[in-house]
Amino acid sequence: MDGNGRWATERGFGRTWGHREGAKRVDEIVTECCRLGISYLTLYAFSTENWNRPSHEVTMLMRLLVHHLKAMDKKLLRNKVRLVAQGTLNQLPPYAQRELARVIRTTEIPEPKLNLNLSLSYGGRQEIVDGVRRVAQKVLSGDVKISDINESTFREYLYQPLFPDPDILIRTGGEYRVSNFMLWEIAYTELVVTNVFWPEFGVTAFHETLENYAKRQRRYGKTNEQIVCEKQC
Ligand code: FPP
Repeated sequence: MDGNGRWATERGFGRTWGHREGAKRVDEIVTECCRLGISYLTLYAFSTENWNRPSHEVTMLMRLLVHHLKAMDKKLLRNKVRLVAQGTLNQLPPYAQRELARVIRTTEIPEPKLNLNLSLSYGGRQEIVDGVRRVAQKVLSGDVKISDINESTFREYLYQPLFPDPDILIRTGGEYRVSNFMLWEIAYTELVVTNVFWPEFGVTAFHETLENYAKRQRRYGKTNEQIVCEKQC
């Protein structure tokens, strides 16, 4: 969800205003995912690197998150959305941890239409390191054999083992980089970069990125001919 700061400063306002407008788009995109029948959505709201921002901006973002979470649970339940979160969550201020835990508990419904994953204090490299630590612990305790560790079994040690790898990664704000986001899971994800800043990324812009994705051919290393044949045969 990039471009909040630039969107605001281009309009002569402070970055805070951009983050506030950005938070409104979160609601719209979540609602649209439910309407379209999208079952999994992960939002990159705050990275491990974002802690290096000026402290007033970090505090503002944490307060905005909590303010938003307080208003969110009823709407999430109405839309049958289950909230989960990933990242070094114990680094969040205690008031944010409490509110996050409350909404996660409240939305623990059995058959959600949408599984919404908030990445907070999240880093893709840290996720892999945490996974390695967990599996190493299992090896030490004798529960896992080194020979049993492979791509598929290691995947279970990442933050959201029940989430499938993403089909599409949308980056708003026009920068062509992945910024430490889900480095393992996006190995075969289709990347769509849009110049639209997050605060103006509404339903129409979202549809445009989905249409862009729909035109792609996902080959997973195979040839075009193989893919065509698989579809026809
Ligand atoms: C990146 O834009 C955005 C963030 C670091 C914060 C994203 C937060 C929100 C959209 C609102 C809160 C989220 C929820 C889930 C309620 P930037 O500040 O780096 O923009 P810039 O590249 O233009 O400076």
